[in-house]
Amino acid sequence: MKRIGILTSGGDCAGLNSAVYSVAKTLYQEMDDVEIIGIYDGYTGLIDLNTQVLKPHDFEGLVSKGGTFLRSIRQSFKTIDIKDENGVSKADKMVANYQKLKLDALVVLGGNGTHKVANLLSQRGLNIVALPKTIDNDIFGTEETFGYDTAVQVGVDYIERIRTTAQSHSRVFLVEIMGNKVGWLALSTGVASAADTIILPEIPYSIERVSQDLKKILTKKNYAIIVVSEGAYSKDEKKLKNKERLLARQEAGFSSVTEKIAQEINEKLGVEVRVAIPGHALRGGEPSARDRNYTMKLGSVAAGLVMDEVFGVTVALVNGKITFNHLSDIAGKAKPILENDPLLEAARHVGISFGD
Ligand code: F6P
Repeated sequence: MKRIGILTSGGDCAGLNSAVYSVAKTLYQEMDDVEIIGIYDGYTGLIDLNTQVLKPHDFEGLVSKGGTFLRSIRQSFKTIDIKDENGVSKADKMVANYQKLKLDALVVLGGNGTHKVANLLSQRGLNIVALPKTIDNDIFGTEETFGYDTAVQVGVDYIERIRTTAQSHSRVFLVEIMGNKVGWLALSTGVASAADTIILPEIPYSIERVSQDLKKILTKKNYAIIVVSEGAYSKDEKKLKNKERLLARQEAGFSSVTEKIAQEINEKLGVEVRVAIPGHALRGGEPSARDRNYTMKLGSVAAGLVMDEVFGVTVALVNGKITFNHLSDIAGKAKPILENDPLLEAARHVGISFGD
């Protein structure tokens, strides 16, 4: 009998349940003697031993469900190897509990933080297979993370609703899209909804340029949509570290970069500006058909890796094919939008401004 643990960690997204479904159903179907152990609340459930044996019928109906039935908690990588008063770290507890549960492998679904912890546990001898999830699409070595496609669609639907009210009231709307380090979600959402301007962390903006471009846009139509990535910053803020930027904004009375840009535009052009934030709704709800199919493929390849005992890896989309990367090659690496990204280039060609 093989015992396979499975957990979901970090910020949730659509497609987690269908990915778990795919891994578990494949393992139950393809292996003669296997037991799936669901671990609740991400790595916390492995630290605290909050687990349950899951039977094939426990996975029924999961393909279309949003969220994660295994629940999720963010686990800070910084504290993972810090010893407590008894000289035991969280990583030590996870290694011990993996053994106590008599696991043969652990499947983890998560984003960058999850992959860093997975890599550490793999180096400590655990048999790990990971799957790349996040609305941010920022996992190095894979062309797309699951959950991203759904989030783009949610963002586009949201902006289309904002557009009609912007038109009615002749207003400028700043729509803030999640992504604290990278702008993939803002870029795809903005391009797909034909936003006028997209402000990204990869392209520091100048408020003069944003305002000039907006002035031109408002000579052609009565409203404008500016998409702002949550992690964007100005050319002036470039020299500051992330924490310093947040502090400086707070001191100036702004809760976000979007609020700051809104006020600056209002001061410069005297136009009415509104901020709209879909926020966590981008992570919620049912997965798109594409994310369902994608997670089905990722999950079945991940299960195959477990059966073939290929560990210390994460499944990935490379050149349109599903394969895997070694955790040690990708953990902790960034995946920003590059200047020659085809979508960014296309957006510039059709006249979308980036405020740079
Ligand atoms: O990592 C995904 C993400 O949704 C980011 O885009 C966002 O900045 C962050 O999580 C929000 O995190 P929390 O759920 O802790 O508010």
